[in-house]
Amino acid sequence: EIYNADGKYVFPGFIDEHVHSRDPGLTDKEDFAHSTMSAAAGGVTTILEMPNSIPPVKDVESFDLRVRELKSKAYVDYGLWGMVLGDLNQKDLPGLAKAGVVGFKLFWGYGLNKKTLALIYNFSSADDVMMPPDEGEIYDAFRVIEQLKKPLAIHAENSYIITRLTLQERASGHIDYASFLRSRPPFSEAITIQNGIMLAKATGVHLHIVHVSSSEGLECIKSARAEGLPITGETCPHYLVLSDEDYSRLNGNMKVYPPIREKYHQNKLWEGIQSGVIQTIGSDHAPHEEKEKKGDIWTVPAGACGVQTLVPLMLHAASQGKITLNQVAALLSENPARIWGLYGQKGALSKGSDADITIVDMNVIRKLSNEELFSKNKINPFVGMEIQGAPIASFLRGIQVMEDGKAITGPIGQLIKPSTSCQSNW
Ligand code: DOR
Ligand code: ZN
Ligand code: ZN
Repeated sequence: EIYNADGKYVFPGFIDEHVHSRDPGLTDKEDFAHSTMSAAAGGVTTILEMPNSIPPVKDVESFDLRVRELKSKAYVDYGLWGMVLGDLNQKDLPGLAKAGVVGFKLFWGYGLNKKTLALIYNFSSADDVMMPPDEGEIYDAFRVIEQLKKPLAIHAENSYIITRLTLQERASGHIDYASFLRSRPPFSEAITIQNGIMLAKATGVHLHIVHVSSSEGLECIKSARAEGLPITGETCPHYLVLSDEDYSRLNGNMKVYPPIREKYHQNKLWEGIQSGVIQTIGSDHAPHEEKEKKGDIWTVPAGACGVQTLVPLMLHAASQGKITLNQVAALLSENPARIWGLYGQKGALSKGSDADITIVDMNVIRKLSNEELFSKNKINPFVGMEIQGAPIASFLRGIQVMEDGKAITGPIGQLIKPSTSCQSNW
């Protein structure tokens, strides 16, 4: 008897290039075992881990420390990002590149806690806050990273401006978050992207703009790419699925930075994907404690779970005809593998029986539920959505690690390092 594989597809193992597992340092929010088990459950076989742990991955010592902390907890393969802190760690960037970071991340415009160098999400007092690197330091970082032939990713947002406006708005007693966002053009993202492009042009660095959230930001990337500059963009499911209309239902559960805005932006981002301006989709899995996410949207921390729902949501988009299944493979596997120097190790089916593979069933229709999530805290703004298309099995380097939405091995994930320089064909 033959097996009817109708509606089933074999994809190269999916990569989530944008995960904050909080480990070490903030493990009440999330830890690496939970985040990578979630990844495995959601059809992801490789994650790239953001550097804003405590300590941040800012030099070889903190890189090694992080690897020691993570290596016995990984249910999928993982690469590490390095953090750009301006003059504080300019001299450490070559060591980090040599140690094997996939690329560097600059939280442009974000203040840092003086003692822990952790990100400051909400400014309530300026006392403990160290200001972010200035443009001179940032320019030097761009130069160094270009020489190291690594990609540089930026969180393009001037949260200081956002916070100033937020404080003014609160003081004036007008506290509806969604109308506040509607009343302010998203200039903070676009201005920062534009500055980044200017410095990229001056230095030649490959610049990757993470979590693009606005039409204005997208337009900047589009024109830079039209000039032939090596600029790529990432967006996230929450900007593609949610809009300002959802704040009344989801409140702080959908608070993320940059913020989710009007449908208009959502439509433009889909166009950006369809036209190739956006090359990757990351989840920005950024859990906080469930109790921290309750309460006033103005003061709850930004960030939500996403690593487990990334692939299902993009498959659902394909089932709706927004993108093709081939585009899903490009956005969630081949393109990130090429950008982060992993192509050959990851991102293609060509390795045969040693390959990372995710099998997808496009006939499954189900409601996303909280109970299926494996993250430590389960604030996920997509639960309750009815979606079509599901990852049903994954193989990591030839070993089956997921069956029907559950991890089925122990933590066999390994640290991966770039083996090629960036191979994006833009
Ligand atoms: O919403 C966000 N949360 N955006 C970020 O860029 C950081 C992240 C976090 O680390 O919580
Ligand atoms: Zn960010
Ligand atoms: Zn992030």
